[in-house]
Amino acid sequence: MLWLQIPLRPPKSMHMTRRNILIHPDPRLKKVCAPVAEVTDDIRKLADDMLETMYDAPGIGLAAPQVGVTSRMFVMDCVKDEESSAQPMVLINPEVIWESDARSVYDEGCLSIPDQYADVERPAEVKVRWLGLDGKTVEESFSELWATCVQHEIDHLDGTLFIDHLKPLKRQMITRKMVKLKKELARDRA
Ligand code: NI
Repeated sequence: MLWLQIPLRPPKSMHMTRRNILIHPDPRLKKVCAPVAEVTDDIRKLADDMLETMYDAPGIGLAAPQVGVTSRMFVMDCVKDEESSAQPMVLINPEVIWESDARSVYDEGCLSIPDQYADVERPAEVKVRWLGLDGKTVEESFSELWATCVQHEIDHLDGTLFIDHLKPLKRQMITRKMVKLKKELARDRA
């Protein structure tokens, strides 16, 4: 399952802190996130923590609302072969500025919906504009798994989860499983 491929992680910095990942259903995962007004030290720290949290999970993408921050930014690293070095990316205020007519289907998963996977069809290629951590605007095209990941993460910033692309019955089934999982986790903590 491509979504499960684990990238090699870059060296860890001592300033990185793993944050708690929210599990669906949670109202914070359904919010339309606010744009980041300025790249501050807090935003740089959040980006570091999100990368740490993503690699630790492990996952290939993580959006700010998943750690309870309703700001428009996400991190990702879709490098999946063990020969290549890690490619951590931080995208602030990302926007899709072009998408291909060609579509592709990936078996998607989400760190906020553990152990649940389903095929989602999306544009196969997208061009995205965002603000980098250095405050500069970047434009880049993505294809294959990277394109799927970018769109999945931008969805998070609009309060949309991959299960929102599924038929209602399938979505409700997964949501019921998550409600049960959250009850179990709460019980274990008690
Ligand atoms: Ni997700």
